[in-house]
Formats: sequence, C-alpha cells, structure tokens
Amino acid sequence: MLTSEERREIEAEFARYPNKQAVSIDAMKVIQRHRGWVSDESLHDLAEILDMTTDELDGVATFYNLIFRKPVGRHVALICDSVSCWIMGYEKLCHALTSRLGANLGETTADGRFTVLPIVCLGACDHAPAMMVDNDLHRDLDPDKLDEVISKYK
Ligand code: FES
Repeated sequence: MLTSEERREIEAEFARYPNKQAVSIDAMKVIQRHRGWVSDESLHDLAEILDMTTDELDGVATFYNLIFRKPVGRHVALICDSVSCWIMGYEKLCHALTSRLGANLGETTADGRFTVLPIVCLGACDHAPAMMVDNDLHRDLDPDKLDEVISKYK
C-alpha cells in the first residue's frame, strides 16, 4: 500500500501534466525514491491512482530502464555498454567492476551495497567509458579509477 507521503508527492505531479497517465514515470520515481524499487503491489496501487491497468503501467515501467522492478542494492551502478564506451574499454572496465564487487551484471553484492546493471548510452560519449552510480555520472573511467569511485558509496 502506498504511504500517504507517496500519494501526496504523486498527486503533486498532476498539476504539471495534461492527464494522470502522463505522470506515470514520475510517479514510479517517487515510489522508487522511497522504497528503492517498484514492487508488483506498488505498481497495482499506482495504476489505480492513475486510472490505468496494472499491465499498462508495467509496460511503461519495463520500457523505461531506470525503473527497477526487482529489489536493488543501496546503490545502483549503471555501466554503459554502448558503442563509444565499448570502443574505449568497456570490457576491461566491466570485468574489473564485477570482479571487485563480486557481482555480475544484473546481480547485487552479497552485502546489498551495489547492484550492477548495463545501460545504453549515458550521453557522455566524449568521456567514455562512463558509468552512473545513483545520480552521479563518472566519466573517463579505467580499472585503476574504480576503487576511488566505489569507495564513495557506503
Ligand atoms: Fe557510453 Fe555514450 S556510449 S556514454
């Protein structure tokens, strides 16, 4: 069940959009900010508020890859696997990241600290390879810089 605070924040978005359905991504972000991810139950409750079916809302959620439909760690590391990053060392970087964290792509570390996910271009192609952790963009990465980046997130 959505909390009154979540409902209040979602309803505050209504004034910014022409209809309730247009609020769907921002509304899911509200839930995700509070809970870390969007469960089936949350999705069902939100669909009612937005006058959508659960399937319609799930279609939006699965299309938008920054909405997490499964539990994630305290921090989410999104490593770009698009062409510029690929050319500039994605494979070495990804291998170093997953080795240091002990979690493969799509997995969460045993301590729940990080979830590692692939993502398409982060818009930082001129500073590839790039990775986003939570809302922070890290550019010009290489395996030697990973420890410093990782240490920022407890
Ligand atoms: Fe990685 Fe654009 S290809 S940031």
